[in-house]
Amino acid sequence: MKVDVLLGLQWGDEGKGKVVDVLTPEYDAVTRFQGGPNAGHTLEFEGQKYVLRSIPSGIFQGGKMNIIGNGVVLDPILFRQEAEALAASGHDLTRQLYISKKAHLIMPTHRILDAAYEAAKGDAKVGTTGKGIGPTYTDKVSRNGLRVGDLLSGFDEKYAIAKRKHEVILKGLGYPYDITDLEKEWFEALEYLKRFQFIDSEHVINHLLDEGKSILAEGAQGTMLDVDFGSYPFVTSSNTVCAGACVGLGVAPRRIGEVYGIFKAYCTRVGAGPFPTELFDETGDLLGERGHEFGAVTGRKRRCGWIDLVALRYAVMINGVTRLIMMKSDVLDTFDTVKACVAYRIDGKETEDFPFDICEGVEPVYVELPGWKTDLTRMTSEDEFPEEFNAYISFLEDELGVPIKIVSVGPDREQTILRYED
Ligand code: GDP
Ligand code: IMO
Ligand code: MG
Repeated sequence: MKVDVLLGLQWGDEGKGKVVDVLTPEYDAVTRFQGGPNAGHTLEFEGQKYVLRSIPSGIFQGGKMNIIGNGVVLDPILFRQEAEALAASGHDLTRQLYISKKAHLIMPTHRILDAAYEAAKGDAKVGTTGKGIGPTYTDKVSRNGLRVGDLLSGFDEKYAIAKRKHEVILKGLGYPYDITDLEKEWFEALEYLKRFQFIDSEHVINHLLDEGKSILAEGAQGTMLDVDFGSYPFVTSSNTVCAGACVGLGVAPRRIGEVYGIFKAYCTRVGAGPFPTELFDETGDLLGERGHEFGAVTGRKRRCGWIDLVALRYAVMINGVTRLIMMKSDVLDTFDTVKACVAYRIDGKETEDFPFDICEGVEPVYVELPGWKTDLTRMTSEDEFPEEFNAYISFLEDELGVPIKIVSVGPDREQTILRYED
């Protein structure tokens, strides 16, 4: 069997958690392959709402195996808070959740470094989630990181060496900090972490595939936040694209199956950085209000704008998307018309190709389509879709060259419409 990958095509928060939960019954295991607690994946079912940060979104579907892969960075404190909150609501994860020994640990000083680097950038700051993501991946690549498997031997010495390096950097930056309480909490959280099963996840995953088991890989962030292909330097520090699943799980490219690309019917971004279709008017405010566009983790207001097909076409290409999933269609229900950016105008010239840099001088070229002015939220089949909404779907499919397999019309698990069977 193969690993199917589900990943965001925009700037994150597309609704990955919801759809992973919906698709999990089709799979034997769900895995995260990159990112860490910078993610906030929201799931709603049976009147309850859950936000997951490091734990895969397959955790609520009947005892399926959930794996935190080697490409993930794990903060023991935030992981403990997440796991304890789930345990308190009746979801004991200890027999369902497996953690790669090769996943890197976010140290208390990584969080401080994240804040210190942001402060040093001044106006050019990235607007990170402040979770220590960048510094942890930096240490991984520069071979100074600590891994979950290091907890099994010689950990204290490795920790002391890594921490000393951070202290030197922080002193150099002149950044004041005190981690006494945070460090105590971190070591307590490490003891808590040890109740979970640490595994050689690349072996486990490949054995599962050899045995004919199916796996769903859950992306975090989105393609436009990818460290190589996103709007650099306003990106996260991992490869959020499909190839990241190979590296972040230890599976060969030929073992990747379907690639689900997920996007909102419009577009949002949280944090700093370019966003060509951003709206600064009442339409943008209305999208934010109707879409409840506030960060699942940080509570920050998300910037809103029309769908950007130049960026989406690029994301489809980089990821090799085979099936599209459109989210939050209901948010557009009240609009008379909806707009879609089909090209950029740069220095007076129109282009449909995503350029090297979208930081300056990019003007969106829009196509305007009729709105559907119909409540989609109670619909259960595509047969009920109004004509104008079907026209919007067909337009996007033509522009992107990939079928839209799933349409989401509300936050609940049930508000998910499968458009066609294979
Ligand atoms: P993720 O990070 O990609 O998992 O997405 P988030 O959970 O950060 O953000 C998506 C938000 O949209 C969450 O609050 C979801 O509950 C909500 N959501 C998901 N799908 C829909 C939808 O079809 N309609 C509406 N109105 N909300 C949705
Ligand atoms: P999910 O998985 C939206 C953004 C931050 C910032 C940039 C770098 O919920 O879609 P980082 O803390 O990663 O160094 O921040 O990336 N960012 C996200 N935006 N959704 C996310 O995750 C994000 N994770 C990081 O706002 O602009
Ligand atoms: Mg999110």
